[in-house]
Amino acid sequence: MPGADIISTMSRRGKFITFEGLDGTGKSTQLRKLAGSLRAAGHKVVETREPGGTATGEKIRRVLLDSATQGLSPSAEMALMFASRAQHIAQVIQPALDHGQIVLCDRFTDSTEAYQGYGRKLGSEDVLNLHRILCGDLQPDLTILLDSDPAMSVGRAKRRNQRASDRANNNSRKGASKHADENRFEQQNRAFFARVHEGYLAIAAREPQRVVAVDASGTPAQTHRRILDVVGQKLKVARSA
Ligand code: TYD
Repeated sequence: MPGADIISTMSRRGKFITFEGLDGTGKSTQLRKLAGSLRAAGHKVVETREPGGTATGEKIRRVLLDSATQGLSPSAEMALMFASRAQHIAQVIQPALDHGQIVLCDRFTDSTEAYQGYGRKLGSEDVLNLHRILCGDLQPDLTILLDSDPAMSVGRAKRRNQRASDRANNNSRKGASKHADENRFEQQNRAFFARVHEGYLAIAAREPQRVVAVDASGTPAQTHRRILDVVGQKLKVARSA
């Protein structure tokens, strides 16, 4: 397994690593690859995502992402993101960290700041305040921001989700249960995603110790290699020769 040589030891305290970026930047693929490398090096790894990550959170996710959800106010949207997160921290993230595990989370509060704070124009301050109140201000040890051209990555996400909802509709015509499609955010316009992108860059500039932007425009293998380097450097992980 590539990378097993690089990441050989980590401290006994758990580590919390989040993946961020626009839709379609390949976060989920990279999270899976990093989990594989860390496990090959002997670490206990929890892979999870937001919104979601718990049974209750996955129900909230369906409400938030289903394009049949109409007229949700920006504040209600933000509240639901935090409801999912508070449950996720209590039930999954904090217990795993307490057991010394590595938690890899696909999106966390930076998503709320970028999408609701910047995209929906609710502002950073309210997001950060809610994070303090509802999430005990839990901060990731490292955030990997996958950066690529907004038009390209969002186009990719739209095509992927359209294929998924076509498949679900097909299945439902054949009598299978209908799955919620996850297109609600992808229906936003370019200006929305430009603001989200701007939000991410502002967060990275504000917290350079925690947030590392990784160029996601190459192949998945190239991006994985870059991420292994960042994890090795930032989390002070021993490197073998
Ligand atoms: P995700 O499943 O990661 O989508 P993708 O794989 O396309 O990147 O996230 C679902 C959507 O939810 C995504 O469009 C971003 C949005 N989102 C927010 O708007 N705020 C949040 O706090 C979170 C966690 C996600």
